[in-house]
Amino acid sequence: MSDQVRVDASRLKQYVAALYAHHQVPAEEAALVADTLVQADLWGHQSHGVLRTAWYLERLRQGSMNPITKIETVRDRGAVAVLDGGDGVGQVITRDAMRRAIAMAKQHGTGSVAIRNSNHFGTCMYYTRMAAEAGCLAFMTSNGGPAMAPWGGARKKIIGTNPWSLAAPGGSHTPVILDMANTGVARGKIYLARQRGEQIPLGWAMDNEGAMTTDPQKAIDGLILPMAHHKGYAIAAMVDVFSGVLSGSKFLSAVNGPYHYDKRSGAGHFITVYDVEAFMPAAEFSSRMDAFITEIKAQPLAQGVEEIFYPGEMEVRAEARQNHDGLLLPQASWDDLARLAQETGLQDLLATVPWGGAGA
Ligand SMILES: NC(=O)c1ccc[n+]([C@@H]2O[C@H](COP(=O)([O-])OP(=O)(O)OC[C@H]3O[C@@H](n4cnc5c(N)ncnc54)[C@H](O)[C@@H]3O)[C@@H](O)[C@H]2O)c1
Repeated sequence: MSDQVRVDASRLKQYVAALYAHHQVPAEEAALVADTLVQADLWGHQSHGVLRTAWYLERLRQGSMNPITKIETVRDRGAVAVLDGGDGVGQVITRDAMRRAIAMAKQHGTGSVAIRNSNHFGTCMYYTRMAAEAGCLAFMTSNGGPAMAPWGGARKKIIGTNPWSLAAPGGSHTPVILDMANTGVARGKIYLARQRGEQIPLGWAMDNEGAMTTDPQKAIDGLILPMAHHKGYAIAAMVDVFSGVLSGSKFLSAVNGPYHYDKRSGAGHFITVYDVEAFMPAAEFSSRMDAFITEIKAQPLAQGVEEIFYPGEMEVRAEARQNHDGLLLPQASWDDLARLAQETGLQDLLATVPWGGAGA
């Protein structure tokens, strides 16, 4: 298809990491950010994939995000810690916070880490999956730049899409992971539609006059609607209590999204991890999860449906498919990457990224 480019995911990671290194992000951290972005594309969440590279790099250029991430421990009380990310790279701050929460859970059975002064980190499931792979369950929230009005409000957006994730080891299956925004759709999907020149479905957003719109630009300028009416609003509000109020970070309209290049983000996050072994032997939990997944997947199918999935399963399927057949990127994302190659002199590295059919 002419509006999409097929690429090799592992070479794309090398290229995106080189872009970050070019912007003074240390090599290991540059590789981490690249991995989170390309992983989102592999999972089928293009809205949180390399589409965002140009935005993040512009934030580094304009000084609203620091390339050198220095995390300060503000409070440390056994199974609870508060970290200050110092406006560093969101992915680095969140990865380190998750590692710390896992270590606390292994020691105390549970560990909670609240993070202030962070930046946009991409998908939640990149981090909650780390906990599941370590034999733990995880709960994670983040606030974000305003996207919607409180339920019943109009015109002024003050609440972010505020994603949250719950994850658990999946027994003999891949981890079971819920990861979702509280708007009907992640705002990145509206940016993606604008980038592709497509309309959005009616019911996703209102323009700034309070009328339903299918125009992605009017949606971006207007209000995104919560999922499940008042329930999405209520969850998003509570996510901000944990992520913004409790962490000591910014909250509601004070948080800036990644596309306000010159403004520091002030995003806050919250993580709680539980060690399975604190509740029951890992082997027992594993066989109970197998029974859980087996019952879900064995149910009779609705018309036109070929398979029932557990949360997080579709992402793993998409990853396997795109690693095998090549990763599809929107042409506009590719054009952004090509522009960045011109600006940084990395054209030779970018030239290795298109899919050659030879596999990684
Ligand atoms: N960092 C931020 O500020 C921010 C803001 C918004 C969204 N996001 C990210 O955007 C991504 C997309 O969010 P979204 O709300 O569009 O997610 P989504 O609607 O695509 O998926 C939500 C959840 O439903 C599950 N799911 C989807 N279809 C399913 C099916 N048929 N059967 C079983 N389970 C199914 C998925 O595995 C996922 O856990 C997430 O990774 C989220 O973290 C990040």
